[in-house]
Amino acid sequence: MRTRLLPPTAETIREAAEVILAGGLVAFPTETVYGLGGNALDESAVRRIFEAKHREQANPLIVHVSGFEMASQLGKVPRELADSFWPGALTLVVWKSGVVPGPVTAGGPTVGLRCPSHPIASALILAAGVPIAAPSANRSTGVSAVTARHVLDDLEGSVEIVIDGGQSPKGIESTVLDVTTSPPRILRPGSVSRAQIELIVGQVETGPETGPSRSPGQGERHYATRTRLHLAEGNGSALVESLTQSGMKVGWMPIGVTGIDGAEVRSMPTGPDEYGAALYSTLRELDQLELDAIVVEKPPPQPEWAAILDRLRRASVFH
Ligand code: TXA
Ligand code: MG
Repeated sequence: MRTRLLPPTAETIREAAEVILAGGLVAFPTETVYGLGGNALDESAVRRIFEAKHREQANPLIVHVSGFEMASQLGKVPRELADSFWPGALTLVVWKSGVVPGPVTAGGPTVGLRCPSHPIASALILAAGVPIAAPSANRSTGVSAVTARHVLDDLEGSVEIVIDGGQSPKGIESTVLDVTTSPPRILRPGSVSRAQIELIVGQVETGPETGPSRSPGQGERHYATRTRLHLAEGNGSALVESLTQSGMKVGWMPIGVTGIDGAEVRSMPTGPDEYGAALYSTLRELDQLELDAIVVEKPPPQPEWAAILDRLRRASVFH
């Protein structure tokens, strides 16, 4: 299949919506990362999403909606949370209704719903008039895509259209909040913080539940470069020096401006929002340089870095 890269005009949005309604796949920008979208109500389109990403069937998809009304046809959505955070980077895991096909939820009784705030994403959902199932538009377990170029690097030939909306502004995926338990539980930290959520619903839990995982995509190595990634305590300079001295080609991502001769240095922003916006592009760029190792300075322990730390921890799991 030939993949078409299209600018976000009214005409291409219409065309992309037709492709979605015909059972095809469209990658599109959201405010968090690019999504790989298909009609959530069309079982065969949903199966194609799993194939294109090489995603495990057991890992459920997020369904993107135009607002509370569309969401309420798919599941039991708490109004207060939707009103507070939608459109935006909060995915709500709710009890699903009968209209959601089994493969979307990996056969489970809940569905993840999100109303994105990116104008191209909203325009596409409105034009299609159906909910759009969309995981991040990258190869399964790899680094998410925050530009159309990243999507093509991973998925060219397995998606009909990529809409080029420039860089995704937040650069880190949505927060996934399970509201089917009491208290609600954050299954994946993300762009919306725990503190913001707790202002609305009171105390929430974080991390995986004990027992069988409720968020299968959060189990293991994920967001990972092909190059081995080390998450260093301290800024990592000692590790970078010893690796380069042993003859290895090393990429280094310290926080703030600093450098080491002989290493590919990418100084990362000192604020969490700016860091998040730069993270996946930097990882992808270093991953293309055929290095022997990437050393990343561990971000500070403060809660505003939680989502970034989560991604880096998983990216550094190696097997
Ligand atoms: O920001 C985002 O959330 C992006 C954009 C495209 O919206 N999407 C995204 O999708 O990151 P994906 O598939 O890469 O990650 C979705 C995560 C996975 O960890 C999955 O296991 C979890 O959400 N998830 C989805 N539905 C779920 C459900 N019903 N129960 C528990 N976890 C669920
Ligand atoms: Mg993903």
